[in-house]
Amino acid sequence: MSGFIKRLKGAKLLLPPLAGYTDYPYRRILSEFDPPFLCTEMINPEAFVMESQRTMEMVKMVEGNHLNGVQLVGSDEESMRKAAAMVESMGYDYIDINMGCTVKTITRTGAGLTLMTDMNRAVSVVSAVVGTVDIPITCKMRMGPTEANKNAASLSRKLVDEGVSAITVHGRTGEKKFGLDVSLEGIKEVVDGVDVPVIANGGVYTGEDAVNFLEATGADAIMPGRGLIGNPWLVNEIKSSLNDTNTLNIALVERKEVTLRHLRYLCDFYGERTGVILMRRLLGKYFSGCRNVSLLKIDSQKTGTINDVETLVERVKDVTGMEYSRN
Ligand SMILES: Cc1cc2nc3c(=O)[nH]c(=O)nc-3n(C[C@H](O)[C@H](O)[C@H](O)COP(=O)(O)O)c2cc1C
Repeated sequence: MSGFIKRLKGAKLLLPPLAGYTDYPYRRILSEFDPPFLCTEMINPEAFVMESQRTMEMVKMVEGNHLNGVQLVGSDEESMRKAAAMVESMGYDYIDINMGCTVKTITRTGAGLTLMTDMNRAVSVVSAVVGTVDIPITCKMRMGPTEANKNAASLSRKLVDEGVSAITVHGRTGEKKFGLDVSLEGIKEVVDGVDVPVIANGGVYTGEDAVNFLEATGADAIMPGRGLIGNPWLVNEIKSSLNDTNTLNIALVERKEVTLRHLRYLCDFYGERTGVILMRRLLGKYFSGCRNVSLLKIDSQKTGTINDVETLVERVKDVTGMEYSRN
């Protein structure tokens, strides 16, 4: 068994690609929670091959104990091949291929979810990448492009024949985008149909969700998604639930420390102005569940400097639970 599969089956947890969120600064934060795997956001292979500055920033590697992955979102065999070779030469441990993105700018190029509609192309893209590099290739797909075409199980079998090492299934179709219901039976169908590990994705917000999803689907591992935004502690929560240890209550002081460290990493990487703007949308997430969080969100829109953000964070107090007040 390869080191990749061994780790996947042992740890049962992979972290997701989240465009606009799992950038270098947040992956630095996540790495401090000692995740087994860490993945970039989706990367355009053409921009990567041209070494565009923005893309090179997106693939900057965070070192640590984890295995590092890059997700590629493309449909052209040649650029996928070249990009894959670059990813491997940078020292990354695995490559994930995006087959689930529903954003129009992606799907109209034939990439993302369109690969689920055009299975022949999906197969030739995967075949090109698998034939180019020695590191493991995984694919991340949805249940299918539409409710009428739930082809995850049949596509997975074809991709496994091409040599992919694992399949991640987001249990919603493209039509459902990010709706509420996730098809656990659909994920189970993929699990039952292939002889490589399957990673279940969609709607995992707690450690308990992770345990329940694994049980209901028979999947080998779990991948949270939006639950990780502003909540890197979910890594610990899932790890401890999977190991049957009690989940931790996060002290407010730690929550503040991690929030401000994330702010610092963002500002180091993007400069203070952009870093603060990127932090604005995360403050409400970091202090989710806090009383008056809506006020905090309003006030965060007015921040312009590190100092402004620090002032807001200081105003969150522990008054029998978290509470934000303007003074
Ligand atoms: C803001 C945002 C960005 C995302 N970016 C990516 C991405 O780059 N690549 C990808 O495969 N999926 C991406 N996804 C999908 C997630 O990885 C995940 O599959 C999806 O959110 C379902 O999990 P959830 O219901 O737990 O959020 C993104 C989702 C969101 C909300």
